[in-house]
Amino acid sequence: FNVTWDALAAEKGGYEHFMLKEIHEQPRAIRDTLSGRISEDGQRVVLKELNWTTEQAASIERIHIVACGTSWHAGLVGKAAIEKLTRIPVDVEIASEYRYRDPIVPDNTLIIVISQSGETADTLAALRESKQRGARVLAITNVLGSSANREADYTMITMAGPEIAVASTKAYTTQVVVLYLFACYLAQQRGSIGASQVPEILQALKGLPELAERVLETAPSLRQFAEKYKDKEDAFFIGRGVDYAVALEGSLKLKEISYIHAEAYAAGELKHGTLALITEGIPVIALVTQDDLYEKTVSNIVEVKARDAYVLTLAWQGDGEIGKYADEVITVPRTMPFLAPVLSVIPLQLLAYYASVARGNDVDKPRNLAKSVTVE
Ligand code: G6P
Repeated sequence: FNVTWDALAAEKGGYEHFMLKEIHEQPRAIRDTLSGRISEDGQRVVLKELNWTTEQAASIERIHIVACGTSWHAGLVGKAAIEKLTRIPVDVEIASEYRYRDPIVPDNTLIIVISQSGETADTLAALRESKQRGARVLAITNVLGSSANREADYTMITMAGPEIAVASTKAYTTQVVVLYLFACYLAQQRGSIGASQVPEILQALKGLPELAERVLETAPSLRQFAEKYKDKEDAFFIGRGVDYAVALEGSLKLKEISYIHAEAYAAGELKHGTLALITEGIPVIALVTQDDLYEKTVSNIVEVKARDAYVLTLAWQGDGEIGKYADEVITVPRTMPFLAPVLSVIPLQLLAYYASVARGNDVDKPRNLAKSVTVE
């Protein structure tokens, strides 16, 4: 009784819920995940856990990323980074689909499984299936000694630390950081198109913990927004490129813990169906961090505004334009656009958190969900 309560409160480090604590741990978790993986002069990625020769790195012809839930969303961001820096084709698949569809795994395919727990049944089955087909497997997991860690050929550990809340937060951001490091490593070892950018990217990665700290300051605005919209039944998240990947994660977070129905849409796809659901006062969260897609996304914001949606945009600090099109603007400090997901996901985590609290839900243990799904 009392003892348990005190112990629990202590574990939460003064936060009301584990999820809020874990959201706030992200700057630290990102720093720890980068630590020891960048050379002292900042020029090179050092992955002792892989230690691949040039030949090993050069032999990879394609990559399949396989995962579930939030880890799958991290994989979508990883695909963009790996393809950008190495031009190796990457497929990202949901583990429960991959394992049953008799996947084609040609020689020289690298399988990357991503799993916070390293114990998700479908992800492990996909790992085993692909090993049987002769593929090399890299596991990205938060748990040293987990099944994924033990069974894979290589492992990269995320240094998020124990994640208690069912809704994943710091595991996601650190998975994404590991994928950036891996993409840089591959580019560097293969001398790919992105190799010359690696020092600049590493510099930007090192800046992320401090920027994430600043993004946490958006919490009061998101709390207000969540309280205002807590009784809505639907919400939409839109974005293009990696903003779309983050939209999927934002929408999952909201569903998981606030139980508000949410959908993520690639902004350009809206007009092929979902636009029919946009009516007066429907909250639409639009991500606009991809400079090359900016105008395209703005045109989609204009479309939903024309249907009287209430639009919250997530944009770069210093964007003087976006306010003209949106009802509310949340900004994140600038970094390289392809690294945006690490920062832009944080306001969405906060939004889901405050919506869940405002609706009186059990934030850390949402109904029907488990932290780790070890059975089918
Ligand atoms: C469960 C959790 C999710 C998580 C997913 C995959 O559904 O509730 O938060 O993303 O499993 O878990 P894993 O441990 O494999 O990353």
